[in-house]
Amino acid sequence: MSDLVRIVEVGPRDGLQNEARRLSVEQRVDLIGRLAAAGLSEIEAGAMVSPKRVPQMAESDAVLARLAHDGRHRYPVLVPNLQGLDTALAAGARDIAVFGAASETFSQRNIQCSIAESLRHFEAVVEQARAHGIRVRGYVSCVAGCPYEGAIAPGKVADVAHALYLMGCEEISLGDTIGVGTPGSILAMLDAVDRRVPMRLVAGHYHDTRGMALANIYASLEAGVRCFDASIGGLGGCPYADGASGNVATEEVAYLLAGLGYQTGIDLEALARTAWWISGLLGGEPRSKLALAMKKH
Ligand code: HMG
Ligand code: MG
Repeated sequence: MSDLVRIVEVGPRDGLQNEARRLSVEQRVDLIGRLAAAGLSEIEAGAMVSPKRVPQMAESDAVLARLAHDGRHRYPVLVPNLQGLDTALAAGARDIAVFGAASETFSQRNIQCSIAESLRHFEAVVEQARAHGIRVRGYVSCVAGCPYEGAIAPGKVADVAHALYLMGCEEISLGDTIGVGTPGSILAMLDAVDRRVPMRLVAGHYHDTRGMALANIYASLEAGVRCFDASIGGLGGCPYADGASGNVATEEVAYLLAGLGYQTGIDLEALARTAWWISGLLGGEPRSKLALAMKKH
């Protein structure tokens, strides 16, 4: 078992995209700086999507352009199409993520096209991105269930994950968008994916809507997954998945991994302070039990 487990911080994107209060470019850059200072090296910085659909992610290009690409940090941004890729390239992106789904209805609602059409769009994006030396990650949403269709067959998740892998995505992040998975269903899904995509290229992206995310991460670790997405303070949700609440909290994942003896290089105190700071900016308190227990002002 490898001792290295990566955490991809998605707070500045997934964490903010569903919040009622919109943050300024300055505040978003500040958040990313604090997360980097706490030891996170992969921080999703925004989304090059339609500002009419997700106003919270407007000006993601300005956020990205303000970040120092020092070679030690990665700042991926979501890109749904070639228009988004152009914006990302112009802002200096070195990492992008395309985002598909294992549910037809969710795909239509989220990105206005079928799964097959989305894969055709992504193929063009991945090809051009790779020609520019850009690293591409591929998301699959609704891996444990869909807000519109209910249960999703593990084989459907594996089909989409495999298609993203074949087109050149270097990592496949499996999203339990509405946090319905349990270790039982997540392991069945991972088993199906494992037959088509090497586990070392798989990441777990688990929302904590029903309090199962840490259990799902532990089960996924046992199944060989070595990368997890998480959001500071447990912020997060998806505007096109009613009832989707926060991602698993970064500080709680870091605490779990440290307790299991994995190296993360993360300063928990700094993370907890950041969780309180960002939650305050958004007008609330952190959702994570760990941040509440580590309350520091
Ligand atoms: P569309 O309507 O099919 O696009 O939307 P279109 O090509 O017909 O263009 C319509 C308008 O959108 C035009 O503007 C375009 O310029 C504009 P108008 O002429 O009306 O003023 N447009 C864009 N603007 C900025 N950037 C772009 C872009 N493309 C078109 N890249 C589109 C298709 C995908 C763009 C749209 O549906 C969209 O932006 N959707 C947002 C989806 C989204 O961000 N969802 C949340 C993230 S996914 C998620 O949270 C799940 C995840 O966390 C994993 C998990 O938890 O499962 C990743
Ligand atoms: Mg998500």
